[in-house]
Amino acid sequence: SATVLAACFLSPVNAADLTVGFSQIGSESGWRAAETTLTKQQAEKRGIDLKFADAQQKQENQIKALRSFIAQGVDAILVAPVVATGWDEVLQEAKDAEIPVILLDRTVDSKDDLYMTAVTSDLVHEGNVAGKWLVDTVAGKPCNVVELQGTTGSSPAIDRKKGFEEALAGKDNLKIIRSQTGDFTRTKGKEVMESFLKAEDGGKNICALYAHNDDMAVGAIQAIKEAGLKPGTDILVVSIDAVPDIFQAMAAGEANATVELTPNMAGPAFDALEAFRKDGTLPKKWIQTESKLYTQADDPKKVYEEKKGLGY
Ligand code: AHR
Repeated sequence: SATVLAACFLSPVNAADLTVGFSQIGSESGWRAAETTLTKQQAEKRGIDLKFADAQQKQENQIKALRSFIAQGVDAILVAPVVATGWDEVLQEAKDAEIPVILLDRTVDSKDDLYMTAVTSDLVHEGNVAGKWLVDTVAGKPCNVVELQGTTGSSPAIDRKKGFEEALAGKDNLKIIRSQTGDFTRTKGKEVMESFLKAEDGGKNICALYAHNDDMAVGAIQAIKEAGLKPGTDILVVSIDAVPDIFQAMAAGEANATVELTPNMAGPAFDALEAFRKDGTLPKKWIQTESKLYTQADDPKKVYEEKKGLGY
């Protein structure tokens, strides 16, 4: 029960006395770098001693980091899980050591009694919003879509694909003709887009790009330009994150839409942790962040200015 779970974690103390381990995936994207910056800022603001570990995209490094945090006896652990599977054992070890774990921005396949809460967006919904935008924008015209997926096996790659496909279901004018991972990076996004363009008559057969994050979209935009086509016009571009760079591309007419994901996942995570430490209040199992669609109608130049400096 909730009371038993609360009792087996720790007694109330001030945030200032908290030591929290944070296992970050790496720095594959602008969004990820901003999440790291904001987590460090949030910890500093609250007087939390943050132990930071960069896993360089490897789950084995994350598991090692978690075990080291457990051995050090930290008060809580934040983890942004690179992939969705393979966490049961280490999460059980944290639970046995009575250390609450909070998932940041990605989900896992483990049972939810192995962690305290997850701070994430609705990842399926994000894909759905991107898909609906495309359905409405092409308004019944035939459109071949290429998809750049995120890291294979990660919850955002799985869910954003699912949500997008759901939005396109039954729309015979829209067809996903190619779909491949670009690993959430700019470099791979460009590389894979180059291969899509080559395979599809220099890009003439492609009407739209759906990228699971903005960084891959930015890389792909470069590839589209180098192929002599106009991104945003010849090939529509829709992606996810809403980082400043995509607003720059939108302002230049080279990208069309993005779905916002806040990089401040640590704020709600620390709030939950502090409330729990104060009086044992357990958070909901899912603390959901917002997903807002931005298009050309939102004055991308202005949004770029607003976004800059917010941890990016
Ligand atoms: O898990 C969130 C995703 O991971 C972001 O959309 C992406 O940019 C990051 O690398």
